[in-house]
Amino acid sequence: MTHELGVMDAISTTRSIRRYLDEPVPEDVLRDICFAASRAPSGSNRQNFRMIVLTDGPVAEAAKQLVATAAHGIWAEKRRNDGYEGGSGTDDTSPKARMARSMDVYIEKLPLVPALIFPCLIRYRAPTSTEGASVYPAMQNLLLAARSRGYGGVVTMWHMAVETQLSELLEIPDGVFVAATVTLGKPAGSHGPVRRQPLAHFVYDGTWGTSPAWATDPPGTQHTGAGPAKH
Ligand SMILES: Cc1cc2nc3c(=O)[nH]c(=O)nc-3n(C[C@H](O)[C@H](O)[C@H](O)COP(=O)(O)O)c2cc1C
Repeated sequence: MTHELGVMDAISTTRSIRRYLDEPVPEDVLRDICFAASRAPSGSNRQNFRMIVLTDGPVAEAAKQLVATAAHGIWAEKRRNDGYEGGSGTDDTSPKARMARSMDVYIEKLPLVPALIFPCLIRYRAPTSTEGASVYPAMQNLLLAARSRGYGGVVTMWHMAVETQLSELLEIPDGVFVAATVTLGKPAGSHGPVRRQPLAHFVYDGTWGTSPAWATDPPGTQHTGAGPAKH
């Protein structure tokens, strides 16, 4: 396995990639990123997570189309309800309008996305609020490994609107939790720094609300507020 990036650099630059070059993800890359996923922790080391990887062929195409149709409906509603079509959303140069345009393009091209991955969890007991903790570390390992190999993706929840159809198409047995829909490919744009709030915002010193003096960001860290852009 080749390692192009150190762990901290990968973590600092693994942001959501929604624009992909029209080229397949090579099998050795799929192998490496799935290997990274497979090394993730799970409760009692049950290793009850699975990655359904879809690239090409009729089943993959049908799954991509299902996800695209779901995403189209969800995004159309969000576009209407979250003010993307009014206020600053009507100013073509506003961050909100730019975000809406990039989502439009992303969703339009979803049927052609190079790879679609469904991280899943085989349930061994009734759903609990912590069950995701045994599948999301694997998903994040996968994304970090993809970044280190020059690939990028985005975590989405598009599958939720078409879960029944997907389960049928992909022969997912009862008792399996589809935890996310990850789209993946070679970025059409460039990777860049992840933007979050400053470190002190996230870290408390023993008791709630007080940040330790050591909670400082590395030089050059870029920040952003939480939640959807308010402009
Ligand atoms: C649990 C979860 C659900 C998400 N759902 C969606 C989604 O349905 N559609 C989408 O385009 N992005 C989705 N995202 C991506 C987030 O919008 C994105 O990670 C966040 O805005 C931070 O941006 P960044 O990853 O580029 O730093 C989701 C991310 C997470 C962790």
